[in-house]
Amino acid sequence: MSENIIYCYSGAGHCLSMAKSIATALGDTDIVMMRRFPVLTDARSAKRVGFVFSCMAGGLPGDVEDYVKAIQIAPDAYRFAVEQYAGYLGCGMRKIDEIVRLDYWTGISNHSTAIWLMPHQLTLPPTTPKMAQHRIDCKVNEVVQAVLAGKRSEKRPPKELAFELMSKALGKTHEKRAAKFQANDKCISCGTCVKVCPRENIQLADGRPVFGTNCMGCLGCVQFCPQHAIDIGRVTANRERFPDPKINVAELTEPLIHID
Ligand SMILES: Cc1cc2nc3c(=O)[nH]c(=O)nc-3n(C[C@H](O)[C@H](O)[C@H](O)COP(=O)(O)O)c2cc1C
Repeated sequence: MSENIIYCYSGAGHCLSMAKSIATALGDTDIVMMRRFPVLTDARSAKRVGFVFSCMAGGLPGDVEDYVKAIQIAPDAYRFAVEQYAGYLGCGMRKIDEIVRLDYWTGISNHSTAIWLMPHQLTLPPTTPKMAQHRIDCKVNEVVQAVLAGKRSEKRPPKELAFELMSKALGKTHEKRAAKFQANDKCISCGTCVKVCPRENIQLADGRPVFGTNCMGCLGCVQFCPQHAIDIGRVTANRERFPDPKINVAELTEPLIHID
């Protein structure tokens, strides 16, 4: 078993890219993905256990809360977490803290991958992908220094009742939105959308993707389609996609990535 384990949820690859950078700096780290039920829940022999995840609808993505509850951590292990968000931390960090009691936590703003809501570049303050990546790189350095020094956060993450309500309400809208997913004429039947979907919610019928209702809203299919052929109604037709350029679909869908 590795010295460090990082549990990671990532929809469009940005959190996985960050988890990989942290793991590379720490060395000897297993990154266990939480897009589906984690393949490794017994983390009791790890010295450090981290969580890298994104804010979704004001809270935790998909079934991440249940997955974290299933993880066993040694009482003396160092516990840390990093959350990416577009505009606000929401209630997800507090939820993780309530389950595992974090020693150190922090958050970082990135572009929004929820492109049905707004173009990713509209995040305030206005930021280019290069600037956002620089900000992420600085945060990775800060996190690695903190983790290696065993830093402890002074306060617990904020308890955000409004975001809890928002996450409960909006968490249920993904299925409705899934009904608006459609492949346009640019589709080349490559099956990338089928591979990237964590819920097996997409199938090819006569070479065209057909979307079910078991959607958790990660938008991996929309973001990673090489042809930009998947739209959500009309709203995303002219919006730029923003998958993490350092992550590919094969890597994103690995259940566990070991970094020496
Ligand atoms: C469906 C969806 C909902 C989101 N909701 C929020 C939100 O409520 N607040 C926020 O600040 N960011 C939100 N985001 C933005 C993500 O947290 C941010 O883009 C993150 O960097 C994505 O990381 P990933 O590519 O690893 O999934 C949302 C993204 C998606 C796809």
